[in-house]
Amino acid sequence: MGPYGMYEEVRAAGGVAWRPELNAFVVVGYDDVRAALRDPRLSSAVAGTGPASGPLAPLVEVLRDQLFLMDPPRHRSLRKLVAKAFTPRSVVALEEGATQSCEALLAGFREGDLVERLAYPFPLQVIARILGIPAHEEDDFRAWSNAIAAFVVQMRPSQEVVHGALRAVDAIRPFLRERIRRRADEGGDGDDLLATLLRTREDGEALTEDEVVHTAMQFLIAGHETTTNLLGNIVLAVSRQPGLLARVREEPGLGGRVVEETLRHDPSVQMVDRVAAEPLALGGVEVDAGRRVFLAVAGANRDPVVFTDPGRFDVDRAGVDRHLGFGAGIHVCLGSALSRMEARVALEALARHAREVEVTGPLQYRASTTHRGLERLDVRLMP
Ligand code: HEM
Repeated sequence: MGPYGMYEEVRAAGGVAWRPELNAFVVVGYDDVRAALRDPRLSSAVAGTGPASGPLAPLVEVLRDQLFLMDPPRHRSLRKLVAKAFTPRSVVALEEGATQSCEALLAGFREGDLVERLAYPFPLQVIARILGIPAHEEDDFRAWSNAIAAFVVQMRPSQEVVHGALRAVDAIRPFLRERIRRRADEGGDGDDLLATLLRTREDGEALTEDEVVHTAMQFLIAGHETTTNLLGNIVLAVSRQPGLLARVREEPGLGGRVVEETLRHDPSVQMVDRVAAEPLALGGVEVDAGRRVFLAVAGANRDPVVFTDPGRFDVDRAGVDRHLGFGAGIHVCLGSALSRMEARVALEALARHAREVEVTGPLQYRASTTHRGLERLDVRLMP
C-alpha cells in the first residue's frame, strides 16, 4: 500500500491509529496534526538524550545537534542563533546564482533522468554556495550528503548504510572544521553561512565549533534530499497536467502556486517523528509515554474537511497556503523560503526549456516511510 492509502485507512479508523508495521501511532487529521505539532508533550528528541557512546557515537553527536531532533530550551536558543545567520534576505541574494545553476544543468538536455540531471545536483550546489564551498570540492560533498541522507530517511537502515553514514561524518567534520578555522584566521568577515555563524551571538551566547559544524551539516541533512524529492514530485505532477508547463512560462506567479500545491498534494516530507514524553490523548486515543508518534503532514494535507476534493492536484485551489508541508510550531521548516525559491526557479527554468514534459520510464520511489521522492525520473522534454 502506498502512503496515501495508509493515511486513508487511519482516517477511516478515526484519524489516529496504532500501526504495528511502523511500531508507532500515525495521526492524519488536519486539526490533530496541527495541534500535535505544537504540543510540548510530544518530544522531537527521538535520537535520545543520554551521552553518545559506542561505534555510532559520531553519528549520534551530529544528530543531537540537529534542530529537528531537539527540544526546548536548547532548541530555542540554537534556533534563534541559526535564524539570525540564515535570513529570508540571504535567500533573495541566492536567486540569481540558483537560476544560473539550473540553466547550466539543463543546457542541451532533451531526454534522460531528471533527478540525476537537475533535482539532485541543483540543491546541493545551492547549499555548497551557502556554506562557501568551492565548486571543485562539490563531488566529495555530494557523496557525503548522499550517505548521510540515506541514513536519516530510513527507518531501519542496513549495516552498509550505517557504515556509509559514519564514514561520511568522519570525513565531513574535519573538512568543515578546517574551513571554519581558515575563516577565523581570515578575520571571519566573509558573508557565507559558516563565517556568519561563527560571528553570531545571542544574549552573550555563541556557537561552539562543533555546533557550527553540525549546524552546517544540518543544511545537507534537512535541505538536500527534501528539496531533490520535492523537485521530482513537482515535475511528475506537471507531467500529468498537459498544458501546465506552458502556462508556467506565460503566467507570472503560477510557478509558485505549482510549488505550493505540490507541497500540499505530494510533499517530500510526509510524516514528522515524535516520541510521547508523557502519557497523552491524541484525537481521543490514549498514547503511553515512550510511544513513537508519526504526525502525517501529508495526511493532514488531504483532510477533506479543510481541502475540497483533496486528492486532486489543482493549482488554482483556494487556501492552499494552509498546507502543513513545512510543518508548524517551533520546528517549522527553517529552510522554507530557500526551498520555495529553489523549486520555483527550477520549475521556471524547465518551462523555458520545454512546453511539455513526458515521463518515459517506470516510477520508483526511494526507500523511506517518512520522506517521499523518486529515485529517478526518466523524462522527454518537448520543445
Ligand atoms: C522541499 C523541501 C523541504 C521540506 C518539504 C521541508 C520540510 C520540513 C519539515 C516538515 C520540518 C519540520 C520537522 C519537524 O517538525 O520535526 C522541517 C524542519 C527543518 N527544515 Fe526543512 N524542509 C525542506 C527544505 C529545507 C531546506 C532547504 C533547509 C535548509 C537549508 C531546511 C532546514 C530545516 C531545518 C533546520 C529544520 C528544523 C527546524 C527546527 O527544528 O527548528 N529544510 N523541514
